[in-house]
Amino acid sequence: MSEDLWPPHALDDPEADAPPAPAGGGVTLIVPTFNESANVAELLGRLRTAVGDREHFEVLFVDDSTDDTPAAIEKAAADCPFPVSVLHRDSPDGGLGGAVVAGIDRVGSDWIVVMDADLQHPPHLVPELVGEGERTGADLVVASRYLPGGSRAGLAGGYRVAVSRSATWLAKGLFPRALRGISDPMSGFFAIRRTTVAGAVLQPLGYKILLELTVRCRPERRAEVPFVFEDRFAGESKSTAREGLRFLTHLAALRSASPLARMIGFGLIGLSGFVPNLLALWLLTHAGMQYLAAEVLANQAGVLWNFLFIETLLFRDRRRHRHWADRLGRFALLANADLLLRIPVIALFVGRFGMDVLPATALALVTTFVLRFAATEALVYLPRGPRAERTTRS
Ligand code: GDD
Ligand code: MN
Repeated sequence: MSEDLWPPHALDDPEADAPPAPAGGGVTLIVPTFNESANVAELLGRLRTAVGDREHFEVLFVDDSTDDTPAAIEKAAADCPFPVSVLHRDSPDGGLGGAVVAGIDRVGSDWIVVMDADLQHPPHLVPELVGEGERTGADLVVASRYLPGGSRAGLAGGYRVAVSRSATWLAKGLFPRALRGISDPMSGFFAIRRTTVAGAVLQPLGYKILLELTVRCRPERRAEVPFVFEDRFAGESKSTAREGLRFLTHLAALRSASPLARMIGFGLIGLSGFVPNLLALWLLTHAGMQYLAAEVLANQAGVLWNFLFIETLLFRDRRRHRHWADRLGRFALLANADLLLRIPVIALFVGRFGMDVLPATALALVTTFVLRFAATEALVYLPRGPRAERTTRS
């Protein structure tokens, strides 16, 4: 990834690994931008009013724009009493969440505040979020739309409100402990202490960076401040339907981070694979195919189904060390070796005990998939030793 940092003196050398020395008690406001040229001047103007000449405050834009946003920032920054810098990324890895993490990696101040550039998040709350954290000793202060005094006025239409509400419930249902005391885990406006995020391995996916930080960093003490989610000042939302899918994938990745959870996920996906398997079997046998031949073919439907879900939901972060075709090949090989083992069992159930094809198959599937999952983890997704490390990207 190639990056430009402007102005070069505002932060340490971008090539250096170490973050800049902490500015005692300082606040860095991280603003992710993607084509927000019509918003940045207004944003910096309102920030000027909000922070006055408070010391140790700086703004870091992490920009993935294809328009003239960096130039607009540079122009508006000339009037600012605080340092303003732009980290421009040529490849927008990880989208909005990836941009925020790239920013976090460069921050040296005590507090990090994350805020959108389109003025849906009121800039006057920036000092208040940090102040609330200092006052209460919290590690994380979330600006919430769901507290008394807050609102989601800027969420256009009942559809978006419903989506946002369901996403909140889903996240809170899946992470009751990590999200306790946070009424608005979908908020993109919050303040967090740098010590809370230091050293964490963050793998954000899409928009929900606060969810990533709360689940992976587990800030102990949390506080919330109500806010009114306003309409966008200018430009258009960058969120698409794809973000919804990314959000679900992100939830699955966070939820399956522990080995036990992954095993359960394995089992559930394996179970769900019965559906395409048995469906294909039913279709093929009804089309007149001999049942053992149909078993072999139908199994491929289940294999493909399982592979897709296991890849995207469970082992997203463990795919790099093998090419996808290698993974699919190994996965299919294991699954079919399992089928080879299963066929005599099914033949026995059907031929000897007179069972029907479908129940016999289901029974054989259950007895063998546990074995297959263990072998899959070991032979497809277990990272190879450093000696065999390859840089093949998926
Ligand atoms: N650097 C970078 N890269 N910034 C991005 C990218 C990207 O790929 N995508 C979006 N942004 C920036 C936008 O420029 C804006 O400053 C901010 O992220 C939010 O993007 P919007 O397009 O305005 O998102 P939204 O209003 O639909 O979503 C906001 O509200 C949600 C709550 O309803 C975000 O704050 C979400 O985080 C929040 O969950
Ligand atoms: Mn917005």
